[in-house]
Amino acid sequence: MDLSRSAEWSALVSHYHDIRKSAMNDLFRTDRDRHSRFSVSSMGMHLDYSKNRITSRTMELLMELARSAGLEKKRNRMFSGETINFTERRAVLHTALRRPPGYHMVIDGDDVASEVASVLDQMKTFCGKVISGQWTGYSSKRMTDVVNIGIGGSDLGPYMVTEALKPFAHGKLRVHFVSNIDGSHLAETLKCLNPETTLFIVASKTFTTQETLTNAMSAREWFLEKAGNRSHVARHFVAVSTNRQQVEEFGIDAHNMFRFWDWVGGRYSLWSAIGLSIALYLGFDHFSGLLAGAHAMDEHFLNAPFEENIPVIMAMLGIWYNNFFDACSHAIIPYDQYLHRFPAYLQQLDMESNGKRVDRVGRETDYATGPVIWGEPGTNAQHAFFQLLHQGPGIVPADFIVSLKSQNPMGPHHDMLVANCFAQTEALMRGKSEAVARLELEAAGHEGIDLKMLLPHKVFPGNRPTNTIVLDELNPVTLGSLIALYEHKVFVQGVVWDINSFDQWGVELGKQLAKVILPELDAREAVVNHDASTNSLINRYREFKISNAPLPPPQLSMFD
Ligand code: F6P
Repeated sequence: MDLSRSAEWSALVSHYHDIRKSAMNDLFRTDRDRHSRFSVSSMGMHLDYSKNRITSRTMELLMELARSAGLEKKRNRMFSGETINFTERRAVLHTALRRPPGYHMVIDGDDVASEVASVLDQMKTFCGKVISGQWTGYSSKRMTDVVNIGIGGSDLGPYMVTEALKPFAHGKLRVHFVSNIDGSHLAETLKCLNPETTLFIVASKTFTTQETLTNAMSAREWFLEKAGNRSHVARHFVAVSTNRQQVEEFGIDAHNMFRFWDWVGGRYSLWSAIGLSIALYLGFDHFSGLLAGAHAMDEHFLNAPFEENIPVIMAMLGIWYNNFFDACSHAIIPYDQYLHRFPAYLQQLDMESNGKRVDRVGRETDYATGPVIWGEPGTNAQHAFFQLLHQGPGIVPADFIVSLKSQNPMGPHHDMLVANCFAQTEALMRGKSEAVARLELEAAGHEGIDLKMLLPHKVFPGNRPTNTIVLDELNPVTLGSLIALYEHKVFVQGVVWDINSFDQWGVELGKQLAKVILPELDAREAVVNHDASTNSLINRYREFKISNAPLPPPQLSMFD
């Protein structure tokens, strides 16, 4: 399909011209059913999307665009395990990881249902042993700390989930995450740990990722300094990977490896054994709850009509702003401190998936694709970047996420949090007109030239779109549904934009060049084979290293 020349796209372009000046305030005033028409409740989650610059006609046209992109068929192709990630020749089956057993599907010779069930069993048994203290370290002590060493999808998901579900942790294990190649990350983490009671999970789909392997090797050195004997590594290092050979070469016993499969993309892998740190920290039952919540969202995505389908609605609203209002970013504002890593997690999910500029047949798209995803928890965000959301020149569509139930009821805190969340979406929509701003200034005693100078700074244009997602409670099940909602949103957008949302070639070039530069940092002669800027940066560091190198031990002269 030639997206931007399709009849459905053109209809949206002309509808945009009809609607772009309409004010949401007026739409609410003239339509008493607007809120109920533009909201959906399902799975302990309420999506209110009525504060968007839409009418019923907008939604009809957006759904027509989704249909014309073949969404239904493509969705079914993903769920049935077809090779939709065609540049890597892989199926995309993270949904199978959370599907109850009893179905039949064979991918690359794997009986998917039984493979998944057997790894889940392995995880369950292992978690039981570690949590109960039956699994002991080399000095017969129980484990107190788990360190997940991974990066990207092998870090962001588990880290985000363990932070989000802290109140559900059983409390017998602490969990830590080390991802950055910056040695400070590992060093700071190890400072508070005892090798006798620390379990390392080396989490890497490929087991070739430089950051993860380097961190894992340094962690092993730290461990062996105290433990001494190499045979003790087996009680303290386990791996999660698709690459058994590399795991064994690293020195981890294959019995302590939890496998997953090529058909699980890194950024979709928290549901696989990559979630081992989650299962250890929360207990296996809560991990199962997370999977159940995600499966409920899968079923919703598969079965709900587009008009009531939460991921489809959110995806098409995103397309509405990205492609027709030229909004090029999207903010995620969880009004929940436990979700503080959710925006960072979504950055990889969305931008690594849809940050693509060529379509499926390799042509450059003449329309925008993935937006920049960013955000921070409210209310902190209000005191940082909300100025731009309210009075900046462009629109930044935003998702506000809040729970009815607080995990820590404490005086007025939760009421204040919720009030701020709702007030911000109201303020972004309502704005403040020049007339109102003038009255307020006059009431405060401003007049004449002073009032004239202040007035434009006090006006809020308003009409800024938001979605509000209200969870009954943030718990393993609703979090599972929330994450799967965004996974499917990203999928739908990729389908409409006709891009491959499941590869990530864009991360390769920098990795290749870093491999060239690494040995050059120790070159004896000045490096000259890059551009002038890169040469100069490399040489600056080289010279720093040379001038700060430890002095060689003094040589004894033969005459001394
Ligand atoms: O950054 C690229 C990437 O391949 C991600 O897609 C992936 O999540 C991450 O690196 C880590 O990869 P691995 O799990 O193979 O170490």
